[in-house]
Amino acid sequence: MTIYYFTATGNSLAVAKAFGGQLISIPSVMSQDRISCTDDVIGLVFPVYAYSVPYYIKCFLKKWHPQADYRFAVGTYGNYSGAVMQEFRKLAVKNGIPIDYLNTVLTVDNYLQGFDIRQEIARLPSKQTDQQIAAMLSDIQNRKVYCPGSSLAAKGITAVCKHFNNGKFRFTGQYFTDEHCILCQTCAKVCPTGNITVTDRVIFHEKCIGCQGCIHACPRQALHIKGEKSTARWRNPSVSLKELMDANRQSGKE
Ligand SMILES: Cc1cc2nc3c(=O)[nH]c(=O)nc-3n(C[C@H](O)[C@H](O)[C@H](O)COP(=O)(O)O)c2cc1C
Repeated sequence: MTIYYFTATGNSLAVAKAFGGQLISIPSVMSQDRISCTDDVIGLVFPVYAYSVPYYIKCFLKKWHPQADYRFAVGTYGNYSGAVMQEFRKLAVKNGIPIDYLNTVLTVDNYLQGFDIRQEIARLPSKQTDQQIAAMLSDIQNRKVYCPGSSLAAKGITAVCKHFNNGKFRFTGQYFTDEHCILCQTCAKVCPTGNITVTDRVIFHEKCIGCQGCIHACPRQALHIKGEKSTARWRNPSVSLKELMDANRQSGKE
């Protein structure tokens, strides 16, 4: 089994690790024109943004050629996922990729303008994330064919909100550092697009995909986004900071 994944705070990587097999981070292959792979089972794990498929994952789908007997996709989310996997299936089919199994995993919501991470951590046991992952792994091992159904309201929400994932949003100007910043470069090292340069200050360029990984990874909690509702930050306990840096290193970069 081979699993492609994208992760900002480790939730999606934790799911991919629990599933097992060979794990390939999307930033490590994203510069390729054609991303192909052959295996008996090939999967994708990614975070849900705005009740829909992140723009970064849409770009990945245009290049992805998974040759497999069985293909699956799992979206991780924190509170509400709308009809994201139905949107995903349509996008995959449009790109010539049939998907046999689609599902979502409910876990900590890392969206800082929406949620207080302390409250999210307190709610985590009630989300039964590990049980969901175990059930999905069993589904995948049994080659189950499945796509979650969704209500008309969920379809409507995703249909409206998917336009936030059109690649036109510019996040530059939303981030700022405070006096605790020691220019340690952690933010630059976890950025999946190489959007951050650290000189005598932290500089954000124009390639931000809005994942918020840099803010959560800052060891001094010195990096902020306008409108954040949380002073606490999150990294999935199954994933180390080094794993996040490795996962988000782009090909060709040290
Ligand atoms: C920009 C952004 C948008 C998000 N939108 C949603 C959403 O619509 N619904 C939801 O339940 N969670 C949302 N989340 C939370 C993430 O989907 C969730 O925390 C995910 O597990 C993060 O995975 P990662 O740690 O692998 O990056 C959003 C997070 C970010 C950063």
